[in-house]
Amino acid sequence: MSNIDIVLRIVFLLYVTSGDHSVIAKEEDVSSLYNNIMEDASLDTFTLVRKYGYPCEIHRVYTEDKYVLELHRIPYGKHNTSREHRPVVFLQHGLLSTSAEWVLMGTDKGLGYILAEAGYDVWMGNARGNTYSRRHISIKPSSSSFWKFSWHEIGYYDIPAMIDYVLKETGVPSLQYVAFSQGTTAFWVMTSTRPEYNDKVRAMQALAPVAYVGNIRSPLIRAIAPFTNSLEKIMRLIGTNEFMANGWINEIAGQKLCLEEAVTQSLCANILFLLCGYNAQQLNRTMLPVVLGHTPAGASTRQMIHFGQLYNSKKFTRFNHGWFVNKRTYGRFTPPAYNLSAITTPIFLHYGDNDWLSTPDDVNYLLREIKSVIGKFRVPHPKFNHLDFIFAIDAKQLIYDRIIKIMSRFI
Ligand SMILES: *[C@@H]1O[C@H](CO)[C@@H](O)[C@H](O)[C@H]1NC(C)=O
Ligand SMILES: *[C@@H]1O[C@H](CO)[C@@H](O)[C@H](O)[C@H]1NC(C)=O
Ligand SMILES: *[C@@H]1O[C@H](CO)[C@@H](O)[C@H](O)[C@H]1NC(C)=O
Repeated sequence: MSNIDIVLRIVFLLYVTSGDHSVIAKEEDVSSLYNNIMEDASLDTFTLVRKYGYPCEIHRVYTEDKYVLELHRIPYGKHNTSREHRPVVFLQHGLLSTSAEWVLMGTDKGLGYILAEAGYDVWMGNARGNTYSRRHISIKPSSSSFWKFSWHEIGYYDIPAMIDYVLKETGVPSLQYVAFSQGTTAFWVMTSTRPEYNDKVRAMQALAPVAYVGNIRSPLIRAIAPFTNSLEKIMRLIGTNEFMANGWINEIAGQKLCLEEAVTQSLCANILFLLCGYNAQQLNRTMLPVVLGHTPAGASTRQMIHFGQLYNSKKFTRFNHGWFVNKRTYGRFTPPAYNLSAITTPIFLHYGDNDWLSTPDDVNYLLREIKSVIGKFRVPHPKFNHLDFIFAIDAKQLIYDRIIKIMSRFI
């Protein structure tokens, strides 16, 4: 049985015992909504943005270690078309996701669109291994050496390469950085291992920041994490290097199971809730096929294992290869901790009370470690969970408006 089977079985068991099988009744014109939802579930970021009347550009970035990444840019808004003096913002997505996460909830809800209308030149990154960045100059994604990276390499190679590209392309000396979840992890990696990048970012907004994860509350992750070492061995044996590529869950979940009229729709909602915290109020179930059409979007197994190691050690350290390779790689038997005191960029942390992955306790811990944190903000909604930062019905009112207000002080 693969790890995915195990996860599915646990999810299913918890689902059938949870007793929440309600389906929301709908009165609207289901068929045109249906077509629109199914189309948005399958369009790529570029086509999706264009569909809703916004300009979009695709840019290609090469990293030092020769991965080929795709950047998406919304250079100006649909209504605010002024192109002069637009401050530059860079958005970095979370684990198993892509640039689509900033636009897929629609033009009045997606942070990508909202920032473009607020006057920003919006650049959206894609980390190696996801749907848009599955390329390397000489290694094919079907080869296991393509997948020999965790979020360390995303922070050390990808983010710096993308930032340098954007600065060169726009001619500005520095930009603002907004990231969700793993996008924040990669930022801590970059600014602690390459401190010169601190000055290239004027301010950073961390949505659901992730570094210390010892207090994760997700029952699913707590059940699996202690087996990180065995999982790594099993996955090495069966040669699973990629974790949940796009297309995997879409087939089963995105297309049919999660639709409005499907009795199984609450299964889809429950998978998300189980991972990230329960908040039925802020989840628009109609949009589930779109969400699951774009996520999961591929990651390396090492990314998962690296997070599992952090959970078990309660530290924020480099990848643990085992003592022998550690000694060769780091010159010591245990992986070194990231030096968070090297971070000097002004940081704003945004957290939710009901976030089971980026818990308030872990965010507090991070706050004590990073000296340049200027503000820590709680989202004013008691049930706000991890994915709500991206998908909540009221994300704009609850968090984006505040972020834009803070950002305007750094223009
Ligand atoms: C439109 O964009 C410009 C920047 O090009 C910005 O100064 C202005 O505030 C924006 N307008 C609105 C209504 O947000
Ligand atoms: C949920 O999404 C659908 C489809 O985009 C939309 O028509 C509806 O207004 C949304 N509901 C809420 C409460 O935002
Ligand atoms: C961590 O970074 C700070 C600031 O750059 C530096 O003073 C300190 O020596 C570093 N610590 C380690 C263990 O490298």
